[in-house]
Amino acid sequence: MSRELLDVVRRRLAEAGAEPTPARVAVALREEGRLLGDSEVLGVVGALRSEMVGSGPLEPLLAAPDVTDVLVTAPDAVWVDRGGGLERTDVRFRDAAEVRRLAQRLAAVAGRRLDDARPWVDARLPDGTRLHAVLPPVAVAGTCLSLRVLRPRAFALPELLAAGTVPPGGDRLLRALLDARLSFLVSGGTGSGKTTLLSTLLGLVGPAERIVLAEDSAELRPDHPHVVRLETRPANQEGVGRVTLRDLVRQALRMRPDRLVVGEVRGTEVTDLLAALNTGHEGGCCTVHANAACDVPARLEALGCTAGLDRAALHSQLAAGLSVVLHLVRDRAGRRRISEIHVLERDRDGFVVTVPAAIWSPEGFQEARGWGRLARLCERGGQGC
Ligand SMILES: Nc1ncnc2c1ncn2[C@@H]1O[C@H](COP(=O)(O)OP(=O)(O)O)[C@@H](O)[C@H]1O
Ligand SMILES: [Mg+2]
Repeated sequence: MSRELLDVVRRRLAEAGAEPTPARVAVALREEGRLLGDSEVLGVVGALRSEMVGSGPLEPLLAAPDVTDVLVTAPDAVWVDRGGGLERTDVRFRDAAEVRRLAQRLAAVAGRRLDDARPWVDARLPDGTRLHAVLPPVAVAGTCLSLRVLRPRAFALPELLAAGTVPPGGDRLLRALLDARLSFLVSGGTGSGKTTLLSTLLGLVGPAERIVLAEDSAELRPDHPHVVRLETRPANQEGVGRVTLRDLVRQALRMRPDRLVVGEVRGTEVTDLLAALNTGHEGGCCTVHANAACDVPARLEALGCTAGLDRAALHSQLAAGLSVVLHLVRDRAGRRRISEIHVLERDRDGFVVTVPAAIWSPEGFQEARGWGRLARLCERGGQGC
């Protein structure tokens, strides 16, 4: 089916303000002096419909069961991640305008604006897919689209073991950590599997406990009978009604959580979370973006700083409120794994540093310097260093 033909039919239908039904498409083609067979007419209908309601040329990629991310950087540069790193696909958009139209339509589906006045959008589509788009000239080379597919179910712990994310026997350690109600943090780079691991671990929480989730974008899917999900929202067109993660953490605390969970700490809510972990809300957890476990204190410091929390105060809250850091990496082969588990210690100046307690190896977690402390914490529970 030629592009030129699709363009002609699209224009005709747009002029008439009509939906692409087979009858209308056939009429439009006839008026153009084209006579096509049934299957070709249906092909045109399908292409136009997926342009209008679906995700256009990206639809087959998003529908593939193993694809987690679809990224568009140019009309002829569409990438996917099937779990083994980025691969360029042979999907092509007709031109830059088509990518822009798709981005705007998806934004509209998510109930958001995307235009010159508001040139980016970060939203969730009704099926859970996370949409991010930036229009030119902010995106210098043209509209950029990033879609993160949400798989409807959480990975179960045996699956993470089978995938090598958790080394053999590592499941016992993770269960012990949850049973002891230690507060923990999952760190790692973007796409390293933080949210997924946190979902899985929340599935290990006892059924009598109440989990309250506060998230920017509702991604966590714990397999657990008692979960309350709260999600932030941006301001409306008039600039009112914004609900921040900080608001949610505060509300969550009034909802009698047994486990307070912050999907991803990336702003001033860090102070509310730390305060909560210090005031009887042990067993809380969150994810944070950090390139190494030992960077976590500095990262939290930087976030706390934006909220006006001074360094010493942050470190004492951290020391008293958080026990363990689980750090994920994505290795060269694209495999995600818990590379290290750290415990917290105070250095001579009273600042918190992380100490490796267990290191991923193909045979199982290898004991490191902080192992004894981790074992004691798992046995006795309790936070504090
Ligand atoms: N252990 C894993 N094995 C295979 N795929 C995974 C694993 N963890 C996560 N994924 C997939 O990778 C993508 C990114 O995971 P996610 O947990 O959202 O990462 P992050 O929160 O670190 O950005 C998801 O689509 C998810 O399905
Ligand atoms: Mg995440």
